Amino acid sequence: MGKKVYVTRRLPGPALEMLSGCKVTLHKRQTPPTRKEILKNVVGKDAILCMLSDKIDREVMKVAGPQLKIISSYSTGFEHIDVAEATKRGIRVTYTADILAEATADLTFALILACARNVVAGDRIVRQKKWKVGWMPDLLLGQNVHGATIGIVGLGRIGSAVARRAKGFGMEILYHNRRRNEKAEAEIGAQYRSLDGLLAQSDFVTIHTTLNDASRQLMDKERLQKMKKTAFLINTARGSVVNERDLAAALKKGMIAGAGLDVFEKEPLGYSPLLRMKNVVLLPHIGSADRVTRSRMAEVAAKNILDVLAGKEPDSAFLVNPQVQR
Ligand code: DGY
Repeated sequence: MGKKVYVTRRLPGPALEMLSGCKVTLHKRQTPPTRKEILKNVVGKDAILCMLSDKIDREVMKVAGPQLKIISSYSTGFEHIDVAEATKRGIRVTYTADILAEATADLTFALILACARNVVAGDRIVRQKKWKVGWMPDLLLGQNVHGATIGIVGLGRIGSAVARRAKGFGMEILYHNRRRNEKAEAEIGAQYRSLDGLLAQSDFVTIHTTLNDASRQLMDKERLQKMKKTAFLINTARGSVVNERDLAAALKKGMIAGAGLDVFEKEPLGYSPLLRMKNVVLLPHIGSADRVTRSRMAEVAAKNILDVLAGKEPDSAFLVNPQVQR
């Protein structure tokens, strides 16, 4: 039998078929494996194919054993993996990089439109038979998206895909980033702003930064206060970039107009005041969830494993820690 691979969830697409030459231990339930299950199942494995909800830290790598060669994450975020520890142990860490950028940008726009144009509220009144009068001149008046100003926090691959869509909507595009993105400035007409400047001028503030020490809790009470009262906050990045308690308070006080959230500080979302708010659209972390994208992510995650187990380097676009030496 071939090399041993632990796959922490059933995947859409061709991944499992691609790994059929390996001895695969598959976690078959829909719910994530428990810590205990992870620690049991990684023992003796050459590769781990994990999800963003699986914490892969020093203990997991140690328990797995010295033969572990690759941790392949079925995600673009990799904050759940201790990359420094993996590098020290000579384990390659791979991710699905920009494959989900377009899909996540699509969903970002779905949230922008849903928030601004009362899409969810409209669906509700029709289903609940509360639509009594037919067409009305002032029914569910929303906010214009075309011609509005969008503020993109983090102009990487997903942020840039959002900016391209915003251009199609005739929006004024502001961005804030660690580094200026001259290409986006020239090609899309994106204008750089300080974070405070962006918050003060945008009708839609959309988060596309990775989660790191600088971005954790970035959108707290103080920053939310800097947004326009009529503005919406959209988050399809990571829940912990926003202080959810401060956001709920800001929404309650009418400090901002609304929010569209696909990600939360703790997932799944348990009890939260957000659940009772009408000016919020909530989604269950489905930014990359279109069939083509998820299938391609699975293919890449499996291919990275096959490459490394065959003694080759994975495609550099998907390698998180190129400093690992053979
Ligand atoms: C990721 O991959 O990091 C997304 O958040 C989930 O698709």
